[in-house]
Amino acid sequence: MVYCSYLYNYSVSNYSVNMKKEEIKTNGIRFSIEDMKDKKEIAHAYLYLIKNDLHERPYGLIEDVFVDESFRGKGYATELLKELIEEAKKLGCYKLIATSRRSRQYVHKLYRKLGFEDYGIEFRMNF
Ligand SMILES: CC(C)(COP(=O)(O)OP(=O)(O)OC[C@H]1O[C@@H](n2cnc3c(N)ncnc32)[C@H](O)[C@@H]1OP(=O)(O)O)[C@@H](O)C(=O)NCCC(=O)NCCS
Repeated sequence: MVYCSYLYNYSVSNYSVNMKKEEIKTNGIRFSIEDMKDKKEIAHAYLYLIKNDLHERPYGLIEDVFVDESFRGKGYATELLKELIEEAKKLGCYKLIATSRRSRQYVHKLYRKLGFEDYGIEFRMNF
């Protein structure tokens, strides 16, 4: 259900404003690689399409890239992310974002190898 509600109003220098919230829908695609024989999942990754008022086109956000521990180092993440990148292009994304903790140098290596650049800072709040 899409909702829009007025939260409260307040004044800044005699200028009255409404604080408002509106629901927006986000689309996402889950990519995965499974073993053909037993259908066991080996790897997965999510692509979320994010829209805002700044651009006509959406941007892509990569989330939860994961390869089963016993299958790491065999190129599965690379293959999965290549597919995800192509899909983001096909869907008209103007940029694609992948985030990673500073300490995970091996993940940075993976993203650099795929053509991503170190760009900006990520701010985070944990709840
Ligand atoms: C990060 C992760 C997805 C990599 O998956 P993978 O299938 O092993 O990655 P690939 O085999 O495609 O490796 C591609 C490149 O990534 C880098 N890389 C991946 N794992 C690495 C490791 N343990 N040490 C060093 N480099 C590594 C290398 O550059 C590698 O290329 P190379 O082998 O030619 O040097 C996997 O280790 C994982 O699921 N980790 C836990 C979850 C996680 O950290 N996800 C990242 C989200 S931020």
